[in-house]
Amino acid sequence: MDKTISGSPFIDRVDGVQKVTGTAKYATEYDFPGLVYGVLANSTIAKGSISAMDTKAAENAPGVLAVITHLNCPELSGYKRTPEQASAPEIRKGYRVFSDNIVHFSGQPIALVVADSYERAVYAASLVKATYSEEKPITDLGEAIKSGKALEGNPYRENVRGEADAWKNAEVKIEATYSMPIEVHSPMEIHGITVVWEGQDKVTVYEKTQALRSTQQNIMRTFGLKEENVRVISQFIGGAFGSAFNTWPHSIAALIGGRKVGRPLKLMLTRNQMFNMVGYRPQAIQKISMGASRDGKLIGITHEATAMTATYQEFTEGIVNGSRGLYACPNVTTRYKVYPLDLSQPTWMRGPGETTGAYALESAMDEMAVALNLDPIEFRLRNYAETDPESKKAYSSKFLKEAYQLGAEKINWKDRNPKPGSMREGEWMIGYGTGSGIFGASRGAAKVGAKLLPDGTLVLQSGVTDMGPGTATAMTKLASDVLGIPPGKIKFEMGDSNYPPGPAQGGSGTTSALGTAVNNVCVNLKTKLAELLKDNSIFHTELVHTVKPEDLVFENGNMMLASDRSKKISYADAIKDAGLQQIEILESSERNPMANYTAFSYAVHFVKVMVHSATGVLKVSRAVSAVDAGKIVNQETAESQVIGAVVGGISMSLMEEGVIDHRYGRWVNNNFADYHVAVNADVPHVEVIFVNKPDPILNPQGSKGIGEVGMVGFAAAVANAVYNATGKRIREIPITPDKLI
Ligand code: MOS
Repeated sequence: MDKTISGSPFIDRVDGVQKVTGTAKYATEYDFPGLVYGVLANSTIAKGSISAMDTKAAENAPGVLAVITHLNCPELSGYKRTPEQASAPEIRKGYRVFSDNIVHFSGQPIALVVADSYERAVYAASLVKATYSEEKPITDLGEAIKSGKALEGNPYRENVRGEADAWKNAEVKIEATYSMPIEVHSPMEIHGITVVWEGQDKVTVYEKTQALRSTQQNIMRTFGLKEENVRVISQFIGGAFGSAFNTWPHSIAALIGGRKVGRPLKLMLTRNQMFNMVGYRPQAIQKISMGASRDGKLIGITHEATAMTATYQEFTEGIVNGSRGLYACPNVTTRYKVYPLDLSQPTWMRGPGETTGAYALESAMDEMAVALNLDPIEFRLRNYAETDPESKKAYSSKFLKEAYQLGAEKINWKDRNPKPGSMREGEWMIGYGTGSGIFGASRGAAKVGAKLLPDGTLVLQSGVTDMGPGTATAMTKLASDVLGIPPGKIKFEMGDSNYPPGPAQGGSGTTSALGTAVNNVCVNLKTKLAELLKDNSIFHTELVHTVKPEDLVFENGNMMLASDRSKKISYADAIKDAGLQQIEILESSERNPMANYTAFSYAVHFVKVMVHSATGVLKVSRAVSAVDAGKIVNQETAESQVIGAVVGGISMSLMEEGVIDHRYGRWVNNNFADYHVAVNADVPHVEVIFVNKPDPILNPQGSKGIGEVGMVGFAAAVANAVYNATGKRIREIPITPDKLI
């Protein structure tokens, strides 16, 4: 298939060559005359306060321009608290770098050293000494639970649909507790920032961010700057998975340092620092109690989730939401508790909440299928929700049934032997498992600027960033399809807050929001192009003043009369003939409030695992993921999203485990030698299937979201396959070999 012309199923990444040749620029790859380097010194205690600091040696070290601590940090307008903020509970106060001497977590920045080379800054940072008044940290969730001080408030209210804890009265019951540790995003690109101040009141920031607009606003607020004086540039991001939504303390520290020394400043974290300075997926312990009738109808689900946050920052996520919405169960009770620990704050991580929740729910669904002696897919079909059980609204679209069928066929599910331990390949025990995922789909607001140039090139601009899914590629494909213009003649420019504000990259919502604006801009351009034909000599003999977009076919940069394709003109000629320089449009698309519908993307994962009978070594040897994400805008990049999510799912189920030494509240394995993620050898060929049916409600292009749902339910599929292979129900991920022998 020629992928360079309009109408192909996909196009290759428009920025692929830049990425593989190294010309793509990431936040810390910008160079400026007089560039200086910032390095953070970190707290060695997890809880307490700094009673004294000795920065003399660091200040006198070669090449050092400044050492900033809470003792000399300039007063920032955004650090001033209103009396109301000052009296807010600790958990709502947040943590502001260098604002005071309080230590909230081990590794918290206590000083920024600015020097004329990176090496000199690293050395000087090692000379910063602090004396602490130390308190005993609590970083163990189990210990915090015993203390009984869970947070209170709305997010933690018990939610009851139907009758509370109705599972107890069912004929068939199961109860099980599932646990998972802290997991970190581990993007390939380490977080970093380059700041270039002009005086004290104007700054350009090269930042790794999923959210240009909120980064700009956070900087404006913290430093008391005007919008036109804060420009944020984020052209390329080497992965983020949720870690680049916040404007983290290291970024604010870099801005403080750059302003103080009056020189461009670059700050890049170390991999070590990445483990607790840019958020993580919180540890969670979840109990699922489930009751069903003998014929496999769910009677009640009770989902009780316990998770953690930092003492200075409340963080909640929809861990229990999937249990309320995935199945047509009349009685659902959910409880959610969060305990503050003396650790840095957690944040969103791929499929936030849902990924954690589905691990428990979909493991329990498998346990119940076993208890009922029902096929796990058949059990799910018997509880298929035709309308949203929580809101009672209709779905904008739902093709989960189709996904079950397509995935089951692909992996040959019907040949799976449900009896645990019954399938073997030599010394390997074989098991198959499934797990489903649900993730909310939405459409936010977006703005796109468009210019159709006299050479027929379309330039689109939006202040959005791309953490890897290929946003510019998908938008190029979409514009190509709607406007009938070859992808090679489209330039999608992004990653600059000077462009019309686009949506944040995240929540699996970028393509939905931005795609709506791009679609609308292209539809408007068709109208404008048709208007150009009013006085055009090729068209005017037959259709003077009357040619409308619907009379025309727009194809490969040409428009032609639908009734007579020989009456044809290129966009370029139409613009030139009309005596125009270009056609320029600014398009705004609004949030879709979805008053009458709810929208979700769905995934169903089927995996084959092999467990070595002597050593417990475990491999995922097949992974089939069938996804209903609406209409697929660009097949190739969409597939990559699901493959990436599955890699995350393999990591989550088999490897990832943040370990804290609770004596000191300190990370033990904050490096890639000890914190394991899946590598190529751990990942089989991932088979991705899209139902690929348009959602008629959410947005004009018919897409839903895809980035996160591919991870939701995957870990359960693996755990369920392990049960099928071995008869062992492992309710604690990661499932490492020691748990299987
Ligand atoms: Mo995603 S956790 O919205 O980057």
